[in-house]
Amino acid sequence: MTMTEINEEKRLAAERSLDYVRDGMCLGLGSGSTAAIMLELLGQRVRSGLRVRGVPTSETSRQLAELAGIPMVSLDEVFRLDLTIDGADEVDPQFNLLKGGGGALLREKIVASLSRRVVIIVDSQKQVPHLGAFPLPVEVVPFAWQPLAQRLGDLGATPILRPSREGPPFVTDERNYILDCAFGRIDDPAALAARLDAMPGVVDHGLFVGLADTVIVGRGQTTQVMERK
Ligand code: A5P
Repeated sequence: MTMTEINEEKRLAAERSLDYVRDGMCLGLGSGSTAAIMLELLGQRVRSGLRVRGVPTSETSRQLAELAGIPMVSLDEVFRLDLTIDGADEVDPQFNLLKGGGGALLREKIVASLSRRVVIIVDSQKQVPHLGAFPLPVEVVPFAWQPLAQRLGDLGATPILRPSREGPPFVTDERNYILDCAFGRIDDPAALAARLDAMPGVVDHGLFVGLADTVIVGRGQTTQVMERK
């Protein structure tokens, strides 16, 4: 597939996701290139009179939402969100997600967990039979990143400290580091998530289990909408 075709699939999925938005809603605003398209389209609707407020899941999305004219609120003001629309790096048939390619997984997971409905928008290449071809991002406290890299290695991964454009390390919005962990095929995402959740110093990770309610896949010139049973 060409980049133009992939971008068209992202645009179709982003556009379709706005069918779930209702006047007066409080929205979780996802991060990444697909979510960026959604923010632009949402901004157009806000300019035409739609009244919504959004909680951005990254500083980049905050800037994009501001540019698009979407009113924002913080989690100090709203404790529950009606709907979150976000992208993903991989989606499996059980609606397990692998996220965090953009490094925003921690705020993304918090916002998703506070939402009544989570809609995931992806191009067709993100649909996979099993998670794990994409290295799993694990957010860790800088204090212990080296021993944690070793512990993650003991679990079967090959952790790499994510570099930034200026050189290592990349620092997340919450001032942590990311270890990109190539596990290969992840047979049991919930079991791996539980092991990572139990590791002191691991702040969070890109496995989103049981969080997605709706997956919208852009496919060619159309979209496929799937609801969790
Ligand atoms: C950001 O941290 C990620 O979780 C994104 O949701 C994910 O990387 C998808 O991004 P794209 O829409 O750019 O593929």
